[in-house]
Amino acid sequence: MGDRDSDTNVPTWGTSLPVDNVQEMVKRNPSCVLERYILDHNDRPNLSPTHASSDVPIIDLSLLSNGDEEELKKLDRACIDWGFFQLINHGIAEELLQRMKDASSKFFNLTFEERNKYAMTSDDIHGYGQAYVVSEEQKLDWSDALILSIYPLNFRKPKFWPTSPPELKDAIEMYSQEVSKISERLFRSLSLVMGLGQNSLLELHKEPMQFLRVNYYPTCSMPDHVLGVSPHSDTSSITILMQDDDVTGLQIHNNGDWVSVRPIPNALVINIGDVIEIWSNGKYKSIEHRVVANKNKARMSFASFITPNQDVEIEPVDEMVHVSTSLRLYKKIKYGEYLRASTTKKMEGKAHTKIIKVESE
Ligand code: OGA
Ligand code: NI
Repeated sequence: MGDRDSDTNVPTWGTSLPVDNVQEMVKRNPSCVLERYILDHNDRPNLSPTHASSDVPIIDLSLLSNGDEEELKKLDRACIDWGFFQLINHGIAEELLQRMKDASSKFFNLTFEERNKYAMTSDDIHGYGQAYVVSEEQKLDWSDALILSIYPLNFRKPKFWPTSPPELKDAIEMYSQEVSKISERLFRSLSLVMGLGQNSLLELHKEPMQFLRVNYYPTCSMPDHVLGVSPHSDTSSITILMQDDDVTGLQIHNNGDWVSVRPIPNALVINIGDVIEIWSNGKYKSIEHRVVANKNKARMSFASFITPNQDVEIEPVDEMVHVSTSLRLYKKIKYGEYLRASTTKKMEGKAHTKIIKVESE
């Protein structure tokens, strides 16, 4: 099959053109920002501090898991009004969060030659590099990323897993296991607020997939001319993000504004991805977000994408389709096909979701 690695039967999800390493570019010449990164005027971020703080809801996972009615209501509102929330009392030890950050920080402090041993190859969008680059003309993001397939285990590609620093592999392993547990707890609560049996969302995933994207955002001398990550929505069912405790960068689209998600130490940022938008028939939206660059401080973030198995056919669940209208806003599609279609274009807001939208007459 064309979309499988010929030797190992491990699926691939697309390809991306090779681009310069941003961290190295900045190291060589901190003041230089190449044309390929400078956005058209309309696409540039407004960095004035008017929206520096945020009202993104805070949700307590221990309360959710105890079935606390108030907290479940808050979760429902957060998913309707924001598509994003900060998760506290999630149960991952602070020490493990720190270990993941420290080990990754060591990775990005290796020489470029060392880091580049895990470079994205021409036949894949995993590894160390930049994804969603499909033309020489498109604007590029001011960041580098290490992208790995974590689950199922047999989808791993060992050649992309750094062996240096030696503790990184273990940190990723332990952190990802914990993230997976959190995702299961969240799916139970989300099932309940969607009016489903508590195991429904979990069962809909079949054997879930999990991808990790470790993002590194170097400093930029012209932060108002570039973006760390351009606006997009995630192709996941949910994304669990650990962000830097003291560098703000993530912004989400809310009521026509870009709102910064102010870091809360040890909290995780959760967002609804395209798949929950589809399953919920649009009740919960997969919200556009972006990352702005910073003049003085580099930033790291860790995005874990939870998705259904590639073979799962995704479509609105019956319980979320209005009996009176029986209107389904999304077409049925196999998840693997959806994911592969999304990597053939540059990420531009929600443009990649067009293939599953039912056109309203
Ligand atoms: C992503 C993403 C946000 C961040 O990797 O999809 O949106 O804060 N990252 O790095
Ligand atoms: Ni994202």
